[in-house]
Amino acid sequence: MLKIGLLAIALALTLSANAASPKWGQCGGIGWTGDTTCVAGTACTVQNARYSQCLPSSSVPITTPPTTVVPPPTSAPSGPATTSVPPPSSTGFVKVSGQKFVLNGQMYPLVGANAYWVGLMGYTIAEMNQAFSDIAKTGATTVRTLGFNDVTTPNGIYYQLWQNGTATVNAGPTGLQNFDDVVAAAKANGLRLIITLTNNWSDYGGMDVYVQQITGSADHDLFYTDANVIAAFKSYINAFVGRYLNEPTILAWELANEPRCRGSTGTSTGTCTTQTITNWVGEISAYIKSIDQNHLVGIGDEGFFNEPGSPDYPYQYVQHEHIGIDFDANLNVTTIDFGTVHVIQGSWGQTADPTGFGSRWITDHATSQKAANKPVILEEFGVTSDQASTYSAWYDTIVSTGLTGDLIWQAGSHFSTGDTPNDGYAIYPDDPVYAIEAQHFAVMKAPSG
Ligand SMILES: *[C@@H]1O[C@H](CO)[C@@H](O)[C@H](O)[C@H]1NC(C)=O
Ligand SMILES: *[C@@H]1O[C@H](CO)[C@@H](O)[C@H](O)[C@H]1NC(C)=O
Ligand SMILES: *[C@@H]1O[C@H](CO)[C@@H](O)[C@H](O)[C@H]1NC(C)=O
Repeated sequence: MLKIGLLAIALALTLSANAASPKWGQCGGIGWTGDTTCVAGTACTVQNARYSQCLPSSSVPITTPPTTVVPPPTSAPSGPATTSVPPPSSTGFVKVSGQKFVLNGQMYPLVGANAYWVGLMGYTIAEMNQAFSDIAKTGATTVRTLGFNDVTTPNGIYYQLWQNGTATVNAGPTGLQNFDDVVAAAKANGLRLIITLTNNWSDYGGMDVYVQQITGSADHDLFYTDANVIAAFKSYINAFVGRYLNEPTILAWELANEPRCRGSTGTSTGTCTTQTITNWVGEISAYIKSIDQNHLVGIGDEGFFNEPGSPDYPYQYVQHEHIGIDFDANLNVTTIDFGTVHVIQGSWGQTADPTGFGSRWITDHATSQKAANKPVILEEFGVTSDQASTYSAWYDTIVSTGLTGDLIWQAGSHFSTGDTPNDGYAIYPDDPVYAIEAQHFAVMKAPSG
């Protein structure tokens, strides 16, 4: 059901034609060759060696929106499942220690599912609670979901409205207040959230809306380089992340779902490279850390390697296609706390032996995990046929290689009003895979795991 409410104008983005760096824009740091002056009303402030930023001069070091105390859900939440291992505490922030996630000094097993839809469909609080309860009953600790929906016409649930190049964050009941309910429902069910802040793909707006609205161009790659676009994305981050600074239910922020230079179709501008995206990862993750020292930060990418000699597409940075991802270089970025990897049915032409490919993909990322000494999670994986055997094989590989964690694509619930979205991958509680998840999560939570 859609909740119709008033749009509260929380934040209006103003764009400046001035040559100086915009408010929230970068103005210095290692390797910075852009403008080192800031627009009027802001001052260039050193955040760290690689990043100086134009902050409002009245409020240096930084102002953030007031943190909202999230109200408890009004409906009675269903309790988490009875498992031999108690759920992690709902207080304290999840941190990283070497290749593990930790909570209050104990290993935090990062296992669970994706549920991109929970804050997008206009679900009631009771439905959100049912969705999270269904996930928690597998023994999951963590859910990955989307924290954005960019629209150009107000409709349903949306978090940012774009008109004539200006973005307005929707802080009302169809916007951030709806997301408050998502967070409260996750918390009530003993789960933590990984929240993705924009999308490479055009689903729910994402990068292309920023670029189109601000530059009038259809060049996807400007998302990573245009100063005004970067300032607009930081402005959204400031509003969204700033609202939940003290909320331990949030485990991590993710920069984007599957960021890439322009995909394999269309003509590349030829200017976006792995360095472009690694620079962007450094800048945006440092920005998040500058306003939020509590939460972890990841990228949300697919985990492509950059091995010039490799014959395999997912391993090779293909010059003419400009995927632009170098997993190992990105994992080295100091303001990135953990690595993310995806593997989806028939991914990248690997159709001959998809199960074997997935296991090799997991194994090779576990090797990177050990080299970087940071956690790495398989945060999206899915096939639409042979699910039980494929997932069992991949879960076994995760355990045997010591990959830090995993989130299946994707969870599903049967609501009395109908099923949650099914793209062919959804695992509802009556699906045989649901029990396979529970078995695997128990192994990952065991002291030796
Ligand atoms: C956008 O620009 C058009 C044309 O200038 C104008 O008619 C319209 O009112 C503007 N809309 C907003 C929301 O500013
Ligand atoms: C990313 O977005 C661009 C532009 O919408 C698209 O061409 C590309 O296919 C998308 N996906 C990937 C995985 O690159
Ligand atoms: C990552 O950092 C390590 C240690 O500094 C270095 O040896 C390695 O070459 C780096 N990898 C990439 C791809 O930048």
